[in-house]
Amino acid sequence: MRIVVVGAKGQLGAAVVHAARQRHEVIALDRAALDIGDAAAVRARFAELKPEVVINCAAYNAVDAAETHALDAMRGNAIAVRNLVRALDGAVLVHYGTDFVFDGQGSRPYVETDAPNPRSVYGMSKLMGEWFALDAPRAYVLRVESLFGQAPGAAPAKGSVAGIVNMMRAGQTPKVFADRTVTPTAIGDCAAATLRLLETQAPTGVYHCVNSGWCTWLGLAQEVARILDLPERFEVIRLADVNLPAARPLYCVLSNEKLAAAGVPMPTWQEALRDYLQGLPQEA
Ligand SMILES: NC(=O)c1ccc[n+]([C@@H]2O[C@H](COP(=O)([O-])OP(=O)(O)OC[C@H]3O[C@@H](n4cnc5c(N)ncnc54)[C@H](OP(=O)(O)O)[C@@H]3O)[C@@H](O)[C@H]2O)c1
Repeated sequence: MRIVVVGAKGQLGAAVVHAARQRHEVIALDRAALDIGDAAAVRARFAELKPEVVINCAAYNAVDAAETHALDAMRGNAIAVRNLVRALDGAVLVHYGTDFVFDGQGSRPYVETDAPNPRSVYGMSKLMGEWFALDAPRAYVLRVESLFGQAPGAAPAKGSVAGIVNMMRAGQTPKVFADRTVTPTAIGDCAAATLRLLETQAPTGVYHCVNSGWCTWLGLAQEVARILDLPERFEVIRLADVNLPAARPLYCVLSNEKLAAAGVPMPTWQEALRDYLQGLPQEA
């Protein structure tokens, strides 16, 4: 397949480009090569490149800043997706969503048919992006969550998991939530699942593209300590203890059963975490 990846230098973008290049023709465009907020530029570039598939790894991900920069979030996460959709000209779109479209008040894993109810500007902007994406004749909206991992040759991993791991390896004491439940997900597993859906021409639509299982952030830190044989030294906090600008969902486990039923079973987050930690360089 001839695949254009936009937002190619992000954390997930780098993993998608790396995985797709093993078997497909890939044109990787970072923000400098294509700003997807620029409708005319998107139209011109796609007309020239004629992709069969467009994978959108670009996003405005500053969850807290979005509360005071709502227009930037809407432009980056919603209007930019509309720009892509309008320029597809028959190409399949893959777009990534987030667990933040849910309010986190549930008590069983969210499935794709559960009603979204975002509580933050970021979550609303990402939900609007999903709606625009689904306007495309053929689109996959893959909701991902708490991403971690290191693509070969990419910038050092960021995000909450990398933050906890880096602090623990440096002998520092990370703050970890005991009351936020998530499904941590490896970028390599997301990238592999993305390609499998495309290659098998699985039915389009919304999928929860996460590793299997769930944990609190405290549980994740405990697993890191166990795998790396480090002392369990954390500052345990609760969401109510911190005053973050954007609301976080408390319970945000996503069920990946629909993905498994489409022929894409996902490894557990513990297996994925072990692979990630074992691949890190010796020095913290
Ligand atoms: N990270 C997570 O834990 C998480 C959780 C849930 C959902 N997601 C979703 O997963 C997807 C991938 O996230 P990620 O963590 O890989 O993101 P990331 O590391 O923040 O990368 C996003 C990339 O998009 C680029 N970008 C932003 N605006 C752009 C524009 N207008 N045109 C072109 N490129 C643009 C950024 O470039 P600059 O660096 O130059 O800004 C950056 O390289 C996103 O849809 C995100 O919302 C991520």
